[in-house]
Amino acid sequence: MAADPKGGHAHAPAGASGVNRRSLLGWLSGFGLLGSAVLSAFSNLIFIKPRATYGQPQRFSLGKPEEFPPGTRISMDTRRVCVVREGNKIAAISTTCTHLGCIVGVSDTGFACPCHGSRFDQDGNVTGGPAPKPLPWFKVTLAPNGEIEIDKDSEVDPGSYLTV
Ligand code: FES
Repeated sequence: MAADPKGGHAHAPAGASGVNRRSLLGWLSGFGLLGSAVLSAFSNLIFIKPRATYGQPQRFSLGKPEEFPPGTRISMDTRRVCVVREGNKIAAISTTCTHLGCIVGVSDTGFACPCHGSRFDQDGNVTGGPAPKPLPWFKVTLAPNGEIEIDKDSEVDPGSYLTV
């Protein structure tokens, strides 16, 4: 018996249909990948992006001045700000402790931090504890719709009130 010079059985060359099938499969999986990539990018844009949060907005409105009666000091922990109203003047003082960033609470004498005992007077000046700096005051304006608006990106001098 004559030995096959290449050894083993001679195979028929892959037919054109085999090549086509393989490249078709390649195309299909390529399209599949591309399709799913496009789809996930699209769904990210549609469904995830609007819900993504990049931290609290630094500028926000807090309602009408009437919601803050004269003489009130209303601390909003979610916004980390205390709205102070004296007569017809409104101010916003930060409630983020200048020591290590805990939220300070409103106390009889001003503000008190539960973490390491820093204390601040009514205007946010340090009166005790490890806090190195006073609590900053933020800019308060009246929006066109009549609501008070606080901009935590704009610090103002302590004692700067908005007159309403
Ligand atoms: S974080 Fe307020 S005293 Fe330390």
